[in-house]
Amino acid sequence: MSATSTMRVVLPPDIRARKGQLPLVVLTAYTTPGARLVDAHCDIALVGDSVGMVLHGMPSTLGVTLEMMIMHGCAVVKGLSKAMAVIDMPFGSYEESPQQAFRNASRLIAETGAPAVKLEGGVHMAETIAFLTKRGVPVMAHIGLTPQAVNTLGGYKVVGRDADAASVMADALAVEAAGAFSVVLEKVPMGLAGQVTKALNIPTIGIGAGVDCDGQVLVLDDMLGLFTDFRPKFVKRYAELGALADHAIADYAAEVRARSFPAAEHSFADVLKGKQS
Ligand code: KIV
Repeated sequence: MSATSTMRVVLPPDIRARKGQLPLVVLTAYTTPGARLVDAHCDIALVGDSVGMVLHGMPSTLGVTLEMMIMHGCAVVKGLSKAMAVIDMPFGSYEESPQQAFRNASRLIAETGAPAVKLEGGVHMAETIAFLTKRGVPVMAHIGLTPQAVNTLGGYKVVGRDADAASVMADALAVEAAGAFSVVLEKVPMGLAGQVTKALNIPTIGIGAGVDCDGQVLVLDDMLGLFTDFRPKFVKRYAELGALADHAIADYAAEVRARSFPAAEHSFADVLKGKQS
């Protein structure tokens, strides 16, 4: 599939139409092999800016660049045959003005072939979301805990308890009115997430926001036990691939040191016998 093709089985209107239907299944993907795994079972492969922390060892998502998102976006789109790619707009690439956001969102879409972008923010980003959606850029919004605002929020805290509840609802209504086709609710208390889900006509996709959302998203490496630097309460580990990999690498190291690897079956004979290569 070419980088500019839009031939995807799942597109933003399909996601929007899933409101109140079978829950949407979303995982992050950053590479072609990761995208292939996600494509087999999920509706959306999110090229999250979490890539900075998970694959690049960054302390937060703030150092992620547009070029990184384009590179990982291209890799992911190559691995998808039915799931839809959504690419995060990184910190600093959209907040300055709607025009800046359009310039960078259009690069993400044109250079990767992904049909949609995600950006963080509610009421204060509504004008930008409207500007993008009116110009052919489908937007998934992201409210509640917005990790790019970690320094102003003072950490990765639950957002929407007590006094914040009204502002989470206001953010949700604002991004819907601005034309977002779906909205991620991150670390929002489950009761409030349920109320927001009922109040909106677009699907809510929860991460740490309880079971009443219209879909769920997790970071692939978190749920596979590959990224273990942090373990937020909302991460359920469906596998312990990090531990499996550790055992495999320890076995390999021991065999190399003991000269038991490579064995004859992993080596080439000096003389060709029959069809043996
Ligand atoms: O960057 C990311 O992976 C995300 C999800 C956690 C929603 O934004």
